[in-house]
Amino acid sequence: MKQTRTLCLAACLALALSCGAPKTDSTIGASPEVERRVEKILAQMTLSEKIGQMNQVSAGGDVSNYTDALRKGQIGSILNEVDPVKINEYQRICVEESRLGIPLLVARDVIHGYHTVFPIPLGLAATFDPDLVEQGARVAALEATAQGVRWTFSPMLDIARDPRWGRIAEGSGEDTYLDTRMAEAMVRGYQGRQLDTTSMAACIKHFVGYGAAEGGRDYNSTYLTERQLRNVYLPPFQAAVEAGAMTLMTSFNDNDGVPSTGNTFVVKDVLRGEWGFDGLVVTDWNSMGEMINHGFGVDRKDVARKALQAGVDMDMMTYGFLSHLEELVKTGAVKESDIDNAVRNILRVKVRLGLFEHPYVDVEAGAAVQYAPDHLASAQRSAEESAILLKNDGVLPLKADAVRNILVTGPMADAPHDQLGTWAFDGEKSHTVTPLKALEARFPGKVTYVPGLRYSREKRDAFPDVVAAARRADVVLVFLGEEAILSGEAHSLADLNLKGSQSELLAALKATGKPVVATVMAGRPLTVERDLPNCGAMLYAFHPGTMGGPALANLLFGDVNPSGKTPITFLRTVGQAPLYYCHNMTGRPYNGETLIDDIGMEAGQTSLGNTSYYLDYGAYPLFPFGYGLSYTQFTYSDIALDRTSYGADDCITVSLTLANTGEYDGTEVVQVYVRDLVGSITRPVKELKAFERVSLKAGESRKLELQIPVSSLAFYGLDGVKKVEPGDFQLWVAGDSASGEPVPFTVK
Ligand code: GLC
Repeated sequence: MKQTRTLCLAACLALALSCGAPKTDSTIGASPEVERRVEKILAQMTLSEKIGQMNQVSAGGDVSNYTDALRKGQIGSILNEVDPVKINEYQRICVEESRLGIPLLVARDVIHGYHTVFPIPLGLAATFDPDLVEQGARVAALEATAQGVRWTFSPMLDIARDPRWGRIAEGSGEDTYLDTRMAEAMVRGYQGRQLDTTSMAACIKHFVGYGAAEGGRDYNSTYLTERQLRNVYLPPFQAAVEAGAMTLMTSFNDNDGVPSTGNTFVVKDVLRGEWGFDGLVVTDWNSMGEMINHGFGVDRKDVARKALQAGVDMDMMTYGFLSHLEELVKTGAVKESDIDNAVRNILRVKVRLGLFEHPYVDVEAGAAVQYAPDHLASAQRSAEESAILLKNDGVLPLKADAVRNILVTGPMADAPHDQLGTWAFDGEKSHTVTPLKALEARFPGKVTYVPGLRYSREKRDAFPDVVAAARRADVVLVFLGEEAILSGEAHSLADLNLKGSQSELLAALKATGKPVVATVMAGRPLTVERDLPNCGAMLYAFHPGTMGGPALANLLFGDVNPSGKTPITFLRTVGQAPLYYCHNMTGRPYNGETLIDDIGMEAGQTSLGNTSYYLDYGAYPLFPFGYGLSYTQFTYSDIALDRTSYGADDCITVSLTLANTGEYDGTEVVQVYVRDLVGSITRPVKELKAFERVSLKAGESRKLELQIPVSSLAFYGLDGVKKVEPGDFQLWVAGDSASGEPVPFTVK
């Protein structure tokens, strides 16, 4: 059933793409015709008009507020206007009433869907399904471009290893390889494989290292070495550039003392110089102006100069370029040729998107595209694949014909706004299908709803209403977590336990002796160790979006078998942060030493394991990266490499037999990890190098082969050169980052 639905969905989307969307005059990548057109426009521009293109303004209110600036060509892009009628009017003024008729780039944060909201990006990463993620980004582009939005500030590529950071919700988690695959998928989905009027320019952000904010506190400083940047944080951006990303956004943070918006090394030397990026670089919201707060510039004129000289093309909401560049040119502080280069990058995006030929949208046709059935189906499938089964004592899957009275409770059971997650600006809660609504529709007359808590932070001493209802029920489905506002930008947390009295609610339910299934909806991995004993099963859904309800109902009742895997390590306690799988070995690796409860009285100072761990919580997580259960069981056998020794240009073929030994059809994410045992610098204990979703029927087994190019083992070593260093390696094939046995091989 699922396989058929997938094929049908893909066909529908392909049809949507092919019918009638006018092609622009260039595919992604350099084009002489595009360059000719860019030069022709640039040659006609005054200095003031050039600077106007470098100015991005957050719109809102009446278009008439901007008419004068638009006519003078003082605005190159607007963000935060999504009314297609107003967007058409903005474009009309630019195209028909300004001297050169240059259309606007209309931008919006379309982060995980436009009107049809998909799971938050951390949830999309949990699918380990780049094809599905590309499909979802394509849906977002079809809906957004139909209403005039042609530029999204997505995908966010910030690798994050500290769940205290609220924006961990917006990225793909802790791993460079997974982040890279998701980045490529979203760029291709937003822009399309061929540029046309349904193409929405992707914006890879936040360049760079923003997710390493010290203490997980948003906007805080980062201290990443160049080697760490090159080996961990830059590769996803480079892959996204190679996938054709048309724009990039600089980040708020200062790294090693230099704010990204003025960081010549990463923007000009690496992005432009090494990678040949010919797209548009935009600042983050007033990140140019914030360089004054950083103490990196004395005033707006100073930071405008530094941003331009670092390689920034467009200023989001500082007005630094508009206010000071003309004077800076006249005084010789900046060269007009730098401004010309910035304007070329901006015009190139506008030409490639076809904005000069197609600046307007058909308002009526655009409305018809929103929430199309195949869009909702794609969102539901993404929600189904993104959910992670963390625990199951056998209570799941529920048997639909065996339940007469289902108690639904918890603050996230019917939270249509919060289920959408952070950065869902254009999601409409009226379209959200919550778990409660989905279960009531599926089991009319069999669902009792007693919220227990109105919201996650509510405190209660007792739950007599919920307990009484539970005693009458066959099964209790409790939906917990955090509201959207508790994750995302500027929403870091120092305590990751379930807020309010949620854990107490769960304990009260457990005490009834009824089967209790907990579903957690959150924007991050919360610390749920204390809650696990109080439920027979726990399903973890990173804010699942518009169709989260039907998706969760299908998962709970076994129509869909969970296949999600953790894209981020789940901590036992927040005090372990940061803790992630691809850490270095250290000189004293932890191997399960004595914990605090086993320490005797008057213990001698050296009586404990002198290794890298916490006396009270050890150094192992609650759930490792890549972890997720299924209703069935998978076994790995016959793992072998095609050779024991390889050259730098070879490809490693790892073969294995995967068997579904349980009684349910299911999908396993087969993961391949590699460790470089000795290097010119210390290397991680293991790194993900390949993964593949494999669907097997109950009882089916299949011989698989996965390829890992030896070149993918290259890293920037002590000499700063990226290469594969000969020596001994180990390889694992498993269903998560903590399982499996190493298979040795060497690189000559
Ligand atoms: C915000 C975010 C950035 C977003 C931009 C425009 O502050 O940092 O990710 O795209 O402003 O909304």
